[in-house]
Amino acid sequence: MAVIAVVHGPNLNLLGTRETHIYGSMTLEKINAALHNAAQPNHEVRPFQSNHEGAIVDYIHAARDWAGGILINPGALTHYSYALRDAIAAVKLPTVEAHLSNIHARESFRHTSVLAPVCLGQICGFGWRSYLLGLQGLLDHLAERSSPT
Ligand code: DQA
Repeated sequence: MAVIAVVHGPNLNLLGTRETHIYGSMTLEKINAALHNAAQPNHEVRPFQSNHEGAIVDYIHAARDWAGGILINPGALTHYSYALRDAIAAVKLPTVEAHLSNIHARESFRHTSVLAPVCLGQICGFGWRSYLLGLQGLLDHLAERSSPT
């Protein structure tokens, strides 16, 4: 059984009403419920959302003690937060970066992820299903790591 820290960054609490033509109409609550269902019965997800960079850094530090991996949509922090990047590198938990939108097809400032180099991988462009795909990839990675073929 793996416990996955699911981290949602700034403004993602507004999903469902925020720029729905870009981010879709699923609320954060529904996305968390879908992740919970996908993780069952063998795994557990522990979702956390904050609009504050430091609170997210603290959560990632704390996850060292109980998580097997991190699934994160860092929101705009993706593009500039070296503090978040350092936190992910420091805890050494396998981390998957997920975005609802295809950040590479949007404004140029979104094309760069300062987190990607310290993440296992990045999934973007599949709407709320990016989270499900990211969770699956992370769980498969953890399973393979614990019993290599
Ligand atoms: C986002 C993309 C970011 O550029 C943006 O700042 C967000 C959401 C996404 O899920 O597509 O807040 O991470």
